Amino acid sequence: MSVDEVIQIIKKRRSVRMFRRAEIPENIIKNIVDCGRLAPTARNLQPWRFVVITKRPVLESIAGLTDYGKFLKDASCCILVFCENTKYYLEDGCAATENILIGAQAYGIGSCWIAGDKKPYTDDVAKVVRAPEGLKLVSIIALGYASKETVCPQKKSLDEVLVWENW
Ligand SMILES: Cc1cc2nc3c(=O)[nH]c(=O)nc-3n(C[C@H](O)[C@H](O)[C@H](O)COP(=O)(O)O)c2cc1C
Repeated sequence: MSVDEVIQIIKKRRSVRMFRRAEIPENIIKNIVDCGRLAPTARNLQPWRFVVITKRPVLESIAGLTDYGKFLKDASCCILVFCENTKYYLEDGCAATENILIGAQAYGIGSCWIAGDKKPYTDDVAKVVRAPEGLKLVSIIALGYASKETVCPQKKSLDEVLVWENW
């Protein structure tokens, strides 16, 4: 794969919220989670645990607990990113989440990051999967094959966000 192809995978990722009912092969799901496992992590603590959910009734119940993640009920699977309560758990969990989104994109699989941390439903989601006490839910990732072309949300231009050396 060329450098340009890798860059295109990163640049073309967009949140997908409408999915076809199609299974993602288990080896692909595992390889996508493996991208999360290899994310950078403060002091190499690797505080994460990744929970894969493929059963439709469980996807539906987690979807029902969220406010802006109801579309999860139609996803092929979801990955819950939990972290132990370390100093940098949020940064670590977010790095792992983004690696998972990019890994999925490389397989042509759509994804959407659904908020975990700071949401009132985190404990309820943790209960669904019987998460051990003390683990924090950083994110819920919906995965599946897009059912239609995703519209690119308005993005700021590079000129608006890039500061070269100083202001
Ligand atoms: C921390 C975080 C929480 C998010 N939570 C949600 C969510 O609960 N529901 C949702 O539909 N999208 C959620 N998103 C996705 C954003 O809405 C999306 O990334 C943003 O609109 C930019 O679009 P893009 O991903 O297509 O580039 C979240 C993204 C981040 C980084």
